[in-house]
Amino acid sequence: SLNWRGLINEYRHFLPVAPDVEVVTLGEGATPLIYAPVLSGMTNASVYLKFEGANPTGSFKDRGMTMAITKAKEAGSKAVVCASTGNTSASAAAYAAKADMSCLVLIPAGYIALGKLAQALIYGAKVIQIKGNFDRALEIVRELGETKAITVVNSINPFRIEGQKTGAFEVIDQLGFAPDYHFIPVGNAGNITAYWRGYKEYEKAGLSHSLPKMIGVQAAGAAPIVLGHPVLEPNTIATAIRIGNPASWEQALAARDESGGDIFAATDEEILAAYRLLASRESIFCEPASAASVAGLLKSKVPAGARVVCVLTGNGLKDPDTAISQIQVPTALDATIEAISEAVGI
Ligand code: F0G
Repeated sequence: SLNWRGLINEYRHFLPVAPDVEVVTLGEGATPLIYAPVLSGMTNASVYLKFEGANPTGSFKDRGMTMAITKAKEAGSKAVVCASTGNTSASAAAYAAKADMSCLVLIPAGYIALGKLAQALIYGAKVIQIKGNFDRALEIVRELGETKAITVVNSINPFRIEGQKTGAFEVIDQLGFAPDYHFIPVGNAGNITAYWRGYKEYEKAGLSHSLPKMIGVQAAGAAPIVLGHPVLEPNTIATAIRIGNPASWEQALAARDESGGDIFAATDEEILAAYRLLASRESIFCEPASAASVAGLLKSKVPAGARVVCVLTGNGLKDPDTAISQIQVPTALDATIEAISEAVGI
């Protein structure tokens, strides 16, 4: 409907927000679920893409942040803090500004996509770059949350997961049923935890009659859950999921095992191939980490006719450097019909 009021108001009976509480919202949620004919043909399945890049700050983090900031505001908190590979910081900065709260973000210096850094700054957060990776930043943030008057809005904040579970509600509301397979990138492992909770809650409420197999995809250079141990120096072009010690590790394993799913890795080459294919064949420009879900689909075997959802977690515009690295930037020609005709061969 055109009068979508943000996901808390739309799904309030599934969320721990009392009727009288004022909601901090930017109208997040209601993102498109797009049928993907090319991927469907390639896999002999029915593939749908949940494009979370259409959220107000360009990623799925807005689902969790509307909840985390609404609850922080309700509790009288004046300041929030997060560690981030970029998207959480952009979302926290935006929702904190909306709630008139201050926002501190810790990011790994040199490993944040340009658009995300620009967002955190322009929304007015205090941005600290650390000489350390995301895992170290999260350790510091946990300690700040315990020792200072500041609310942590990473996905260790339980309200984040509550908000993000609405992604599963929307998939079911849009499809009319739960998919057979749900592919999702895994970094800190909050989102796989949240989707699994959402699918289970909708089934319990009688709003769907089956549960998907949850298939998590990590980047090969940052695949602690696949390897079974933390990775001290994670590395991948998909900087959003450059994480070596995920906070929701146990919950991710539970989602995998309870659903009969899997968690495996895709290489940077596979991720970039999926990233280019999504843009050029399905007309969806997502960021590299998001393409991990599709890279995972393309290297796994789903049964013929399976109904598959891949979550595309963030917008491609977040990371212009990676996009430009994948294409040939055209050189400037003389501004004449002749020069252009010659260059394109018409
Ligand atoms: N995709 C994108 C675009 C992300 O930004 C993230 C996480 C993930 C996937 C993985 O989700 O952590 O719940 O498993 N980004 C966090 C951040 C870590 O700081 O923005 P997850």
